[in-house]
Amino acid sequence: MGRQRVLSGVQPTGNLHLGNYLGAIRNWVEIQSQYENFFCVVDLHAITMPHNPATLADDTYIIAALYLACGIDLNYSHIFVQSHVSAHSELTWLLNCITPLNWLQDMIQYKEKAVKQGENVSVGLLDYPVLMASDILLYQADKVPVGEDQKQHLELTRDIVNRFNHLFAKPDQPVLKLPEPLIRKEGARVMSLTDGTRKMSKSDPSELSRINLLDPPDQIVYKIKRCKTDPIRGLTFDDPARPECNNLLTLYMLLSGKTKEEVAVECQDMGWGPFKSLLTETMINALKPIQEKYQTVMDDKGYLESVLRDGKHFAEAIANNTLTQAKIAMGYSIPL
Ligand code: TRP
Repeated sequence: MGRQRVLSGVQPTGNLHLGNYLGAIRNWVEIQSQYENFFCVVDLHAITMPHNPATLADDTYIIAALYLACGIDLNYSHIFVQSHVSAHSELTWLLNCITPLNWLQDMIQYKEKAVKQGENVSVGLLDYPVLMASDILLYQADKVPVGEDQKQHLELTRDIVNRFNHLFAKPDQPVLKLPEPLIRKEGARVMSLTDGTRKMSKSDPSELSRINLLDPPDQIVYKIKRCKTDPIRGLTFDDPARPECNNLLTLYMLLSGKTKEEVAVECQDMGWGPFKSLLTETMINALKPIQEKYQTVMDDKGYLESVLRDGKHFAEAIANNTLTQAKIAMGYSIPL
């Protein structure tokens, strides 16, 4: 028996921030040696909202380079671009035709994003979760690392698997594998620097609300200097009246590698001034190796392209095989 498979993806919408890193990618890096991993840059998902054709390709390379910079290791993991493997689009069509419309209309993320778009909402946005299901199912993934906001999409993926297998497979010979969520340990939900009750997000209009992985040190100094705090002296975790305090302590804990207890003791009598200096320095030091590695990768475009080419070939063989199995199960003729 080989290792179990993990699949996950990030959309190429520009920069990654600390929330993406601490909440997702860092966990992938930690667990990668136990699994066979597929990390894709989901550029087909990126066009479910209005996008910029002039930057899509560059943004895709940036995310792939950041995967490497954050420590995704090619000994355990395959990195590839979703649109390079056409089976993603093709399986999506097959699954579309067995997915009830109302399952998609009930998705929370769809409802939230659709409101913002009004009349212009595309069929693609509604179909987003079926494309995500295809990403997962093509690789027969056992585990999918997901945050809170993607849990419902994974549940939908499981519903689609059950429906597909029920319709087209013998009970003892499922065609598609039922994936399980891989829920991470607590403590990695990173909140906005300007509002401790909201998640750090790419779509927040204020740059001051987030730290991007590629922010230079002077930006980090500036953003931490400006970030929201409160007038109370002494810093504590888990006080519901102090969401910013909890978030900044959590960031310090995650970036310093110290335990919660150590941080609680170290910071209990600190004022905001000294704590901000400490957090700034810790953040700059933690991001430095990622930024250096990123530069090295970006300076050698040929290397990055070869990583993505290898990833594509490896992924494609597996994906095409699953796609063929699904088509056979559905009764298609397969060209010889
Ligand atoms: N929808 C995911 C997100 O926005 C990205 C994604 C696409 C994904 N396909 C996936 C995540 C497959 C996990 C598995 O975070």
